[in-house]
Amino acid sequence: MSRLLLRGRVLTFVDEPKSIDDQSAYSYFEDGAVLVENGKVVEAGEYAALASVAGPQVQIVDHRPHLILPGFIDTHLHFPQTQAIASYGAQLMEWLNTYIFVEEQKFSSTAHADFIAGRFMDELLRNGTTTAAAYCSVHRTSVDAYFAAAEKRNMLMIGGKVMMDRNAPDALRDTPQSGYDDTKALIANWHGRGRAHYAISPRFAITSTPEQMDISRALVREHPECYVQTHLSENKDEIAYATSLYPSARDYTDIYANYDLLGPKTLLGHCIFLSDREISALAEARSVAVFCPTSNLFLGSGLFDQGRFKELGARTSVATDVGGGTSFSMLETMSEAYKVLHVQGQRLSPFASYYMMTLGNARALGLEDRIGSLRAGADADITILDSRAKPAMELRMRTATTLAEELFILQTMGDDRSVSEVYVAGKPMKSGLDKAAASHGARSLPELQPA
Ligand code: GUN
Ligand code: ZN
Repeated sequence: MSRLLLRGRVLTFVDEPKSIDDQSAYSYFEDGAVLVENGKVVEAGEYAALASVAGPQVQIVDHRPHLILPGFIDTHLHFPQTQAIASYGAQLMEWLNTYIFVEEQKFSSTAHADFIAGRFMDELLRNGTTTAAAYCSVHRTSVDAYFAAAEKRNMLMIGGKVMMDRNAPDALRDTPQSGYDDTKALIANWHGRGRAHYAISPRFAITSTPEQMDISRALVREHPECYVQTHLSENKDEIAYATSLYPSARDYTDIYANYDLLGPKTLLGHCIFLSDREISALAEARSVAVFCPTSNLFLGSGLFDQGRFKELGARTSVATDVGGGTSFSMLETMSEAYKVLHVQGQRLSPFASYYMMTLGNARALGLEDRIGSLRAGADADITILDSRAKPAMELRMRTATTLAEELFILQTMGDDRSVSEVYVAGKPMKSGLDKAAASHGARSLPELQPA
């Protein structure tokens, strides 16, 4: 494959910023470039230096004046909820029963699952997200649709079939045995194939019986190479119900601990109302608490206290949680993360935000050698950001004088329009999507009722 030299303003992190002016945490090249070959980063650095070593066959793509960053990473969302974003007026349990458990039944249709999986991957790419960890529906075929759509685009994706054997409609319930058998078959078929990673996914304690939790423990023992993803302590009614179903557990976290589900590859969505004991238990297990700001606000769940996780030494990551979350954009997600922390007296610096979306989330997934930065040898998953993509941003940018200011404007005012290109393993993906979107617009609209 020929060499590619992407020219622009390159920003990539090497560590978590300790303060707003911690320049040791990142590398920034004002006239920079990323040299790519065979889907990998050869090197990121000064344009002049890389142009002189790139060789005569190199194809130069000039992205100036845009920023070149590693692709964004989303550590928690639900692919079958793509068409259920913005479902009105309910908190978690009512929202699940009224909207989500209805929507997810559509995924018994392979054609529907295939269609949404394709649109889901495209939406991630449109927003500059090149890797995500998603829940599929209870249907085994939804996982096939998900990984097939990722494979077609060569995306590094994590996913798994939700297991749920109670407190859900009949059509969405598996059994401990079928959940085990389907998960085993899916791991055999997908985990490690191309860029696919499997996540063992008991939905949450409320929708799994103790028998299914036992089965989850067996799956995790048999497949330590896989991730585990579930939900923890998102909403007060949810906590009361979950703990009532497992009366011998000390608290919600203890339910998962009792089934050996807490480990360094475990991703726990939300974690809003944890006690210090629970956070310390996560820290000890090295499990990851996933902050989902747009979802936590939209579902009226509560405020994630990132400062307390830091104090107690627990790992965190950040995610959209579509469709409880309201946007596929990690920029919009960090804008809401900033506000959630701000009302609690915590300050999220622009550099910390961009660290979280890239290297921070890669570290949370244990994938920092492959994604999340532009270090030599990393997969060439790259996002190009345009800080002047909207007229209001262009006007605001006229007064910006520092990179930190520019990053904050991009995060606060930006969305998919600010992503001018996205590369997956060195291949440009967004330009093709924009052409396809033009044809989607031709579909006829359903007639809407007044209420
Ligand atoms: N808890 C269990 N399932 C879900 C889900 O689909 N979304 C959210 N936000 N919380 C959950
Ligand atoms: Zn979720």
